[in-house]
Amino acid sequence: MRECHQAIARWLEPLGVVSTIDAIGNLHAVYRAADANAPTLLLGSHLDTVPDAGAYDGILGVVLAIQLLEQLEGRHLPFAIEVIGFSEEEGVRFGIPFIGSRALVGRCNEELLNERDRGGVSVREAIQNFGLDPSQLAAARLPSEGILGYLEFHIEQGPVLESLALPLAAVEAIAGQSRLAITFRGKANHAGTTPMNARRDALSGAAEWIVGVENEARRASGLVATVGSIQAYPGATNVIPGEVRLTVDVRHHSDEARMQFVAHLTARAREIAAHRSLTLNTTALLEQPAVAMDPFLTSEIVSAIRASGSTPHRMPSGAGHDAMILAERVPAAMIFLRTPAGISHDPAESVLVEDVACAMESGVRLLRQLAASGEFLQRTNTTRA
Ligand code: GLV
Ligand code: MN
Ligand code: MN
Repeated sequence: MRECHQAIARWLEPLGVVSTIDAIGNLHAVYRAADANAPTLLLGSHLDTVPDAGAYDGILGVVLAIQLLEQLEGRHLPFAIEVIGFSEEEGVRFGIPFIGSRALVGRCNEELLNERDRGGVSVREAIQNFGLDPSQLAAARLPSEGILGYLEFHIEQGPVLESLALPLAAVEAIAGQSRLAITFRGKANHAGTTPMNARRDALSGAAEWIVGVENEARRASGLVATVGSIQAYPGATNVIPGEVRLTVDVRHHSDEARMQFVAHLTARAREIAAHRSLTLNTTALLEQPAVAMDPFLTSEIVSAIRASGSTPHRMPSGAGHDAMILAERVPAAMIFLRTPAGISHDPAESVLVEDVACAMESGVRLLRQLAASGEFLQRTNTTRA
């Protein structure tokens, strides 16, 4: 991450823009407005990624934001543009996503700072180990005035735009997510001497539950559920697993449907555990409601895509984004780029060069439209409490 910050700082240098790192590890770089007291438009995405990832999820939005500054060729707009490269959006290390953007909306509380990774390092310690000061987190919060909104370019990460043969879409809403950590506990014992009817095998119980999660998610319309991480302990060929820790990620555009499914899944886990004499522990890692994007910015995006010569599409996002956190405090909107074969969170993730060019052209037009919009520029005090 440090090398990533340094590379971005080098790219910004020719633009006369200096980057800083806030106390949660987000990079910020402000391209000044024509007038020093002008409000600010935020433009960004995340810099972290998943294990064995592709090259575009997150970082493409930051690169496009920097490229848009370059396209201004030194001209200054009636608003400043602050590029943000968020840290820890994916939630890989601590199981909790959006840690960087949460700091901007004041949601990095003690509970979050005390969360630990698998190696026992807390979020607070991770911040300190990176050379940052957690006591400065309050300074990372968005100011209560003067932010016009947040825009994020991102790959779609799904098959919709490709199936429509379109390069770009405006995002209308982002699906809600629940993430849980679940532990099944039984009794580790000898694999050769313990009869099948005398076992309390935590992994067999977890496996029965996981297959049920998949089957029931398939039957629930519009819902996706994923058990993405599992560890069996002690994890030896000849030992019955005494403990299994796993995570489940559940998403739906309806918060009610998502919460009902989560309640059902946990009840089912309790039944399986009781039946197999296991104990069960469930911890909610995330309850993120679905979020609508700002209608004004979204329709400006649609116009900008059209003006750039492409047919705009409007669609929801199944993936989570920093925009859904920023939307708690400021108008937020997103532009999706077509994702070949819909593949993401995998090294095969890609984008088409011509789609990136379309996104840049739309971005230039969007900035121009916003700079000329009285309605937009009057929203200087839109930050929500
Ligand atoms: C972020 O990539 C997510 O999990 O939606
Ligand atoms: Mn991702
Ligand atoms: Mn992403």
